[in-house]
Amino acid sequence: MTAPADPNRVLIFDTTLRDGEQSPGISLNTQEKFEIAQQLARLGVDIIEAGFPITSPGDFEAVQEIARNVEGPVIAGLARTHVADIDAAWGAVRDSPRPRIHTFISTSDIHIVHQLQTTREDVKGQARAAVAHAKQYCDDVEFSPMDATRAEIEFTAEVCQIAIDEGATTINIPDTVGYTMPQEYTRYLERLYELIPDLRNVVLSVHCHDDLGLAVANSFAGVLAGARQVECAINGIGERAGNASLEEIVMLLHTRQADVGLHTGAVTREIARTSRLVSRLTGYAVQPNKAIIGRNAFAHESGIHQDGVLKERTTYEIMDATTIGLEANSIVLGKHSGRHALKQALSDLGFEVAGQTLNTAFKRFKEIADKKKQVTAMDLEALLTDELREDAAVGYSLEWFEVEASSRRPPHATVGVRTPDGDEVSGSFTGDGPIDAIFHAINAATDVEAKLREFRVDAVTGGQDALGETSVVLEVGGVTGSGQGVSTDILDAAGRAYVRALSNAVRRREMVGRSAALAGTP
Ligand code: KIV
Ligand code: ZN
Repeated sequence: MTAPADPNRVLIFDTTLRDGEQSPGISLNTQEKFEIAQQLARLGVDIIEAGFPITSPGDFEAVQEIARNVEGPVIAGLARTHVADIDAAWGAVRDSPRPRIHTFISTSDIHIVHQLQTTREDVKGQARAAVAHAKQYCDDVEFSPMDATRAEIEFTAEVCQIAIDEGATTINIPDTVGYTMPQEYTRYLERLYELIPDLRNVVLSVHCHDDLGLAVANSFAGVLAGARQVECAINGIGERAGNASLEEIVMLLHTRQADVGLHTGAVTREIARTSRLVSRLTGYAVQPNKAIIGRNAFAHESGIHQDGVLKERTTYEIMDATTIGLEANSIVLGKHSGRHALKQALSDLGFEVAGQTLNTAFKRFKEIADKKKQVTAMDLEALLTDELREDAAVGYSLEWFEVEASSRRPPHATVGVRTPDGDEVSGSFTGDGPIDAIFHAINAATDVEAKLREFRVDAVTGGQDALGETSVVLEVGGVTGSGQGVSTDILDAAGRAYVRALSNAVRRREMVGRSAALAGTP
């Protein structure tokens, strides 16, 4: 990708599906990654780093699916400097109209000595060979000197110069362990420009982790120092404390554009929805006071503030909630609405559904509309992501359950589960609570020893008749899987989430068994 003609345009490189997916407990399947990638395209990100194809057949398949079917953004695949990594990355992204290979190697001595157990000379050779190899396949090649902010700057500059000489079109300077500070990062990048005059002929990129809570501040410092690509993730997810949060960077540049003079191509009205989708599919909750997309980001508690906002919104709000897509959660449908109205409402929300997916969505919609008089846009959004997943995931499904619960004796659950082979199996369990009993009964029915790691219940909207949304992360033989469920009945939502998590974990365990484990991933 060549640098945009407009010198004030900042490219948004989204790594939710790669660095974000490396967060503990997150395990998205191909369909879920594809759904997120489509939404990222609607959000108008410039580059989607769709995964790290060498790491597993599942990752390869997901990147390939996204490269083949998601239009608009550049689709990047990550690769170490090994030939096999670069071949896998190319194999996965090659069908995109706009493919990119992103290759990296550490330049800090801590990593070179202890992790790579090699020499600086060898790192230079590997960087040269990797970029040259990637360049044979693809014009758009990004190079990252990993752990750059803890590396000697002269050596990092030498390696970046080699990458540029071999044809790298983007040079990304990662703060891999979230160690740097804004003024230090600024000086680092300014010095790099002095050491590598050719850096002005490629796109300079920043990639900051949030270990000290400075990822966004450091990314912003990088942009002010001349970087024109920011690597970031929705809801700030990523390794350890996460990556710079995409929504914060985008809204910072948007809100202060008059003063900073820089802009992105992001469609800000898609931010809230993208955040909800990522939170829902990853099972990672957004903290209520999180900037931009936290539940309270536009809430006013104190009387003085409420009074001010009622008189004039800008007294206590620097952004308009509608700018990020948080308009009133309008009632879209009721129990008499038909299939056509549902199709139209979904289309207004950006989902084009037809055929069997529409039939299933309509059936679930009717069930819900019978219990809940008014079905809102957010209900539909939750329901549809639920239904899309049902279609795609070939695994276990919860057919029925019965629970006997009372305050006088332990709850007892019996469940019927459809196996991937199509058989119906059943199991029973007496648990500590009704949800615990259902989960153990599912284990008994499927004969899979799954251990619950996380369980979360949320309401999709406010109000007593709100849809319940549950998230489950569980572990099967050392491999985690997550799943979500939506229903007016919280036991049903929990059971649905559990069997999906179980299906994902079992599928992943099979894949892990098939592929060799990789060492040295970032
Ligand atoms: O944090 C890091 O250094 C990375 C690189 C692969 C860019 O994620
Ligand atoms: Zn990273």
